[in-house]
Amino acid sequence: MTKHFIDFDNLSFEVLQDIINRAIILKKDHNEGVINNSLKNKTLAMIFDKSSTRTRVSFEAGMTQLGGHALFLSNNDIQLGRGEPITDSAIVISSMVDAVMLRISSHEDIIEFSKYSNKPVINALSDLSHPCQILADLMTYQEQRGSINGKKVVWIGDGNNVCQTYMQAAEIFGFELTIASPKGYEPNQSFVESYQNNINYCNSSMDACEVADLVVTDVWTSMGKESEQKQRESAFKGYQVNQKMMSVANSDALFMHCLPAHRGEEVSADVIDGKQSVVWDEAANRLHAQKALLLYLIEA
Ligand code: CP
Ligand code: NVA
Repeated sequence: MTKHFIDFDNLSFEVLQDIINRAIILKKDHNEGVINNSLKNKTLAMIFDKSSTRTRVSFEAGMTQLGGHALFLSNNDIQLGRGEPITDSAIVISSMVDAVMLRISSHEDIIEFSKYSNKPVINALSDLSHPCQILADLMTYQEQRGSINGKKVVWIGDGNNVCQTYMQAAEIFGFELTIASPKGYEPNQSFVESYQNNINYCNSSMDACEVADLVVTDVWTSMGKESEQKQRESAFKGYQVNQKMMSVANSDALFMHCLPAHRGEEVSADVIDGKQSVVWDEAANRLHAQKALLLYLIEA
């Protein structure tokens, strides 16, 4: 059966942990100049209908480093953007490449694509989830602090796609997740109902951060929600991760943000540029996590 990477909950703890462990080895190998051509002559198609820096660069560089090739397909330039059905696109594209990565707005469309694709499909951010990001986050935590099992992770802000993958990860990796979101910006009800174990909800972001091992946030206005920017700015007042919040977390707590970030909105400059922040390792680890994922999906 074709393997896909659409959501954490389609995979076991063992598979996800193996991908992370392999990413750490691939990072070491890469830093030591070891050449790995395991994906020689393989092609990854990358379909984007939203902007990207980290995801695009890491998948493209990752394929090159593994001896293969990545094909950037902007939605505006392929027939999908002109209304060719997702099903027909999946059949055609997957017949020519070895894996397909999609950053398209609709999660349902990614699932639909995967049903008609005879090659692995990767969710590179949808309206519901961002599993590639959380692979890199978990890798970064493991590198910095060891196992995340039993640790307290705090999500401050929008209960968005990144937050919802954290909810899935909490269950699979056994960490405690506390979510502090303004009213009306909580995670989707379906996620709240499905992932109750290990998750707490808190009205106060200060209280949520108490004895945290990891504090995570993301933009107040995700891509596609730009028209809500003004109303979100007022709704999210009090949800900026700043030094005051970090001061009630554990003294060795880490700060993460998937980036891009808005200093002075969801995070203060002194936190994101401060010594508890690991955002640059987190971003750089996207490369290694993605390479490990590509190997898991494409290698025979
Ligand atoms: N974190 C993340 O996915 O970044 P990009 O939108 O730049 O890919
Ligand atoms: N939640 C953000 C993540 C960007 C990487 C968005 O969807 O725009």
